Amino acid sequence: RTDRTFTMLKPDSVEKGNVGPILEKITAAGFRIAAMKLTQMTVADAQEFYAIHKDRPFFGELVQYMTRGPIVAAILEKDNAVEDFRTLIGATNPAEAAEGTIRRLYADSIGENAVHGSDSDENAEIEGQFHFAGREIF
Ligand code: CMP
Repeated sequence: RTDRTFTMLKPDSVEKGNVGPILEKITAAGFRIAAMKLTQMTVADAQEFYAIHKDRPFFGELVQYMTRGPIVAAILEKDNAVEDFRTLIGATNPAEAAEGTIRRLYADSIGENAVHGSDSDENAEIEGQFHFAGREIF
């Protein structure tokens, strides 16, 4: 099986109508969509998903942002998926993201940064299972 990563097109991407253009860049880069849906995280969901950041000063702001509207959650498949997807999205801070990356093109700030990409194969699996049942993954 080829590698998988997990992504969320965050509420700002949905609000600004950037879902189509971002998905176009993702598929053009060679990722196959293995699972995808429009969903909204509850506060409890976001606190659990981002538990690793719970002591950071921005945690409250992060939970508020990620729960304020729907997101597009997806599992993506490609060789070297985790690393290649992080290259495609660019640095966490869009001001530092490389030319042509999704965050450079569509993110406003380090907080509202348009997209999520898993940081390891292990987290890709955990995060994918957080959002999708087995029968939703193809
Ligand atoms: P991501 O890397 O996908 O997951 C953690 C998120 O926390 C990150 O995206 C940003 O949305 C947010 N984040 C990280 N650093 C900061 C920061 N310094 N200020 C506000 N939000 C941040």
